[in-house]
Amino acid sequence: MHDPVTTTRPVAKVVRGIPANDGAGVKLTRVIGGPLLDSLDPFLLLDEIRSDDGADYVGGFPEHPHRGFETVTYVLAGRMRHGDNKGNSGLLIPGSVQWMTAGRGIVHSEMPEQQDGLMWGFQLWVNLLARHKMMAPRYQDIEPGRIPEVAVAGGAKVRVLAGAFGGATGPVADIVTEPLLLDIALSGAAEISIPVPVAHNVFAYVFDGEAAIGEPATPVARGHVAVLGAGEAVRLGGGPGRALLAGGKPLHEPIARYGPFVMNTPVEIRQAIADYQSGRF
Ligand code: FE2
Repeated sequence: MHDPVTTTRPVAKVVRGIPANDGAGVKLTRVIGGPLLDSLDPFLLLDEIRSDDGADYVGGFPEHPHRGFETVTYVLAGRMRHGDNKGNSGLLIPGSVQWMTAGRGIVHSEMPEQQDGLMWGFQLWVNLLARHKMMAPRYQDIEPGRIPEVAVAGGAKVRVLAGAFGGATGPVADIVTEPLLLDIALSGAAEISIPVPVAHNVFAYVFDGEAAIGEPATPVARGHVAVLGAGEAVRLGGGPGRALLAGGKPLHEPIARYGPFVMNTPVEIRQAIADYQSGRF
């Protein structure tokens, strides 16, 4: 039997990340969650912090709440110290990822610490289905050594944070949106084809160098995100460059969003604010 023909996703649009300020004056690049790309169901936000000037992030993200979704923190350089009101704390080192399910509510702080001058990392917000929004908070803290790296012919390397690629399965498990999250280093010579479920929404954020993404190949420069159209696979080539590729099952539910609370209705947002203000997180 012949293999069925795989349809490769085209690039539907390319959007540039915009400079933004969050937490206590942290300078960052907002890739998803700004006016140009409000969300990509189930993804609500993608921020990149990249600076060798401590003044850009020294204020960090002091105590703040979350309810109704998940925050994913991936550190490339520097460190992120976190602590919450349930007694959890830790230090995310370069190469590590934390998948935090805020669920019904958590109050935490996230404080960047530079190492060898540079702080570089991402935070991705992933929505929860209505029936999971009030689940108990949960963490998956993944050390760098637990993240498999797949070498691709031509010299590219793929770190598999969540989902599967090239026979490797990422350590982040049991997430309802069945996410695929890959850190892809392109050598300039390799072509990578990544199978993705047809129902998933997929984006690729180029955070270093450049990449050629999709079919037909669309050049995408550092600081830009490519939103992929329909198909069974995503192709990446070109470079040298590095991209974060994320795919997830869309929830198709109404979104009511107010700062760190993401619920389905305005009534639930008012309840979240009231619960937080009365110390019920
Ligand atoms: Fe947070």
